[in-house]
Amino acid sequence: MLRHSRLLPRLRPRSVALGMSVLLLAGVLAVAGAQSPPVASGTAALAHVATLSQQIGPRPAGSPAYIRATEYVTEQFQRLGYRVEPQAFPFQFFDEPYLPILTVVAPVELVLHPATMIYSTATPEDGVAAELVDVGLGREEDLRGKRLDGKVAFAGRGQIRFSEKASFAAAAGASAIIIFNNQPGPAQTGTLLTPSRIPVVMVPYDEGLRLGAWLAAGPVRVHLVIRTVTERRSSANVIAVKPGTSSPQEVVVVGAHLDSVPPSPGANDNASGVAAVLEVARLLVEVPTARTVHFVAFGAEELGLVGSSYYVANRTLAVTGMVNLDMVGHRAQLLLSNSAGRGGLMDVAEQVAGRLGIGVQRLSLGSSDHVSFEGAGVPVVFIHTGDDGVYHTPQDVYARIDPNLLAQAASLAAALVVEIAR
Ligand code: BES
Ligand code: ZN
Repeated sequence: MLRHSRLLPRLRPRSVALGMSVLLLAGVLAVAGAQSPPVASGTAALAHVATLSQQIGPRPAGSPAYIRATEYVTEQFQRLGYRVEPQAFPFQFFDEPYLPILTVVAPVELVLHPATMIYSTATPEDGVAAELVDVGLGREEDLRGKRLDGKVAFAGRGQIRFSEKASFAAAAGASAIIIFNNQPGPAQTGTLLTPSRIPVVMVPYDEGLRLGAWLAAGPVRVHLVIRTVTERRSSANVIAVKPGTSSPQEVVVVGAHLDSVPPSPGANDNASGVAAVLEVARLLVEVPTARTVHFVAFGAEELGLVGSSYYVANRTLAVTGMVNLDMVGHRAQLLLSNSAGRGGLMDVAEQVAGRLGIGVQRLSLGSSDHVSFEGAGVPVVFIHTGDDGVYHTPQDVYARIDPNLLAQAASLAAALVVEIAR
């Protein structure tokens, strides 16, 4: 809070903002002419992260906090002089009103620290009390011929979707499934994409190891209680429009998802990306582009790329390229990716980074809004800084964000947009 109130006023006075944008503008124009590096402001971007992750906090799709986040982003775009179009879309709302409770009952009593998977069905009110059964990775071949009636399946994370593990376990008669994180760290939530038949939770790496060791030695009994709500609601993308000067019917999209996974404050995932997009919008205010540019804060990404899929399905302009920023504020350096690991806008992004003196590497991981555009044949690049080990958890906080990385991401994305929208 203190840090936030120290940062926010810096953005308020018109004169300061103007002074800064002159500097930034000079930087971008220099990039357009491939002269010297642009000057994005890590401080300005960090202030957006503070507002989104600390003042507004967790902002899951369908929550009042998400609406506040859209208002904040809208105001920032409008202040820069952009026309803003909210784009509403329907989605399946999910909420977990109480924390999940998972206890080992035997061979010893122990309280575990699970995370509920998005779209998991609830347990009966008094929970599921049952024997735990090791089912390997929970693949079809792991479960073939096995009956798990009334039991709880225990499966490792990886290789197939969480939703597939859940349906194979449900088909074998399991009452619930516990997935253990196969990477050191806390339990992470993730989406099952559609409502599941049985309750699905993840446990942290170290708790998974203990359960596995006990299971190898003898019977293990657990008690799981979760409460969840799933219903149809509406959410929205926020689109700021920069009209193209000569090919306005063609559009370049630079976007980041605005929603977060509760109860995570989503500082890196993905206040960082939204902050970078706002900074790109600021850098490009006075830079004319032949094509239209859409600066987009996407909704409901964490529920399965819902907002970006809706944008792609309902586009009226020809999308010629998409730059996605998701998790750009933690670790060492910028990484470039897309689903194929090559092609798309990877090469041009690498060249632009080289020109700016920004070190980048290629590393494809994580699925995010660019995938919706790839599905429509749009060339994309996904700019990120890799797995921070805490995304989707309450530990994804403001204090871990590096303003220098935010500035690099914004500089690279701005120069890239100028390059492909010219
Ligand atoms: N921010 C993540 C993707 C990510 C993970 C980027 C690690 C960089 C490093 C994104 O919000 C996410 O959680 N995506 C899901 C899939 C999506 C369809 C919900 C994922 O990767 O599991
Ligand atoms: Zn994300």
